[in-house]
Amino acid sequence: MPSDTPSSDQTAFQQATLTAGGSSVALPVDRGTLGNPCIDIAKLPKETGCFTYDPGFTATAACKSAITYIDGDAGVLMYRGYPIEQLAKQSSFLEVAYLLMHGELPSAAEFSNFDNEVTHHTMMHEAFRTFLFGFRHDAHPMAMLVGMLGSMASFYHNTLDLDDPEQRRLAAVRLIAKVPTIAAGCYRYSIGWPMRYPKNNLEYVDRFLHMMFEVPSEPLALKPVAARALDLLFILHADHEQNASTSTVRLVGSTGSNPYACVAAGVAALWGPAHGGANEAVLKMLGEIGKPGNVQSAIDKAKDKESGFRLMGFGHRVYKNFDPRAKIIREMTHQVLGELGVSDPMLEVALKLEEAALKDDYFIQRKLYPNVDFYSGIIYKALGIPTEMFTVMFAIARTAGWVAHWLEQQTDPDARIGRPRQIYTGYAERDYVGIDKR
Ligand code: CMC
Repeated sequence: MPSDTPSSDQTAFQQATLTAGGSSVALPVDRGTLGNPCIDIAKLPKETGCFTYDPGFTATAACKSAITYIDGDAGVLMYRGYPIEQLAKQSSFLEVAYLLMHGELPSAAEFSNFDNEVTHHTMMHEAFRTFLFGFRHDAHPMAMLVGMLGSMASFYHNTLDLDDPEQRRLAAVRLIAKVPTIAAGCYRYSIGWPMRYPKNNLEYVDRFLHMMFEVPSEPLALKPVAARALDLLFILHADHEQNASTSTVRLVGSTGSNPYACVAAGVAALWGPAHGGANEAVLKMLGEIGKPGNVQSAIDKAKDKESGFRLMGFGHRVYKNFDPRAKIIREMTHQVLGELGVSDPMLEVALKLEEAALKDDYFIQRKLYPNVDFYSGIIYKALGIPTEMFTVMFAIARTAGWVAHWLEQQTDPDARIGRPRQIYTGYAERDYVGIDKR
């Protein structure tokens, strides 16, 4: 368990006083083991008649969580207290998934059981194929993934008693196990290849690569660096505290919805270019820039607010320092491309763009650094993963985080239905006018 001993500066104040409409209210200050103190405003409406306004939740904690910690100013990311750099170097994605779900690293026996269980839940019901085949042949794989995940509740409706911890755990295992099978199925359908069943003799990431790329005509020869690189990307993307998609999972979860519906909603939120869709957008942007000589005009365009153009893969709501995940991926990119023997002109454009942006006052003043998605696309591309599957890759990894948050929420004594308020800006009351008089 995390230490609950507050550091000296944390003991500094226990409450905040807010004066509104002539009355003062003392608000308690809540603290976690790390991070900023939080003013608990729950009693504000009752005592002052006021709500608080915080579009985009830039200053609002919506829950208590023991899963992931980020210090955006220092560029720190930890899963269950373990620094991302150590997990990236020493762990595996499946072990990280266990850690996120259970709170502790597994013993050898616990890991073996978990691995065995995940492996034996990777198959999909055959009716899934019929459902998949109903999509248009050129559907975007993210559209298919949202639909397919939503459909999962229809396959497992007999084990959706959310009051039963074992049924909840099993749903989480099923999601971690089946999302790669579904993702690979979506890809193969979109290119007209026959479906591949998961192979139990392979490990999580290798199994996924086989389901993606194996063809009936010849055996698949994968370089070990491919699985290693993908495993690393999955670790780095596995969780990121209350990001937009995880908050979506929690908001849907707060209504008592089933976990498959919650995760389908998370995938929908991830799809946007401001979130997980950025990795696809980065590659498109690098392709459009085309050569290092065009980098400066891209930078100038990104600084021009009239252009509506942003540097994709730059900036982050929380990190106001280098994204620690981007640092790890940057290093890995050179190694992967080298070992795969891939020479990608986009890497040259990316390096030039990064160098130019980091020197530019506009980016320096706004603390805009490369984020996790800036380099991930270049690795995915080198692994032969098509651009429209990039966000699907992110979704496979983030499923581990989504289910961990969903499980945590189910036993949170403070959990209530998520129901934000608003500042109403419409008409005050007015009388209905008949159509003949309008
Ligand atoms: N290019 C140019 N200007 C930018 C960028 C960018 N990529 N990002 C932010 N800015 C500017 C923005 O115009 C604003 O300028 P000003 O203060 O003059 O109005 C300032 O920086 C602050 O931006 P913001 O939009 O208030 O910041 P935010 O915290 O709301 O947005 C963000 C964070 C990630 C949505 C944004 O930085 C962005 O759109 N980045 C590009 C998309 C991207 O790479 N997204 C992936 C995020 S990491 C993976 C994930 O979490 O899914």
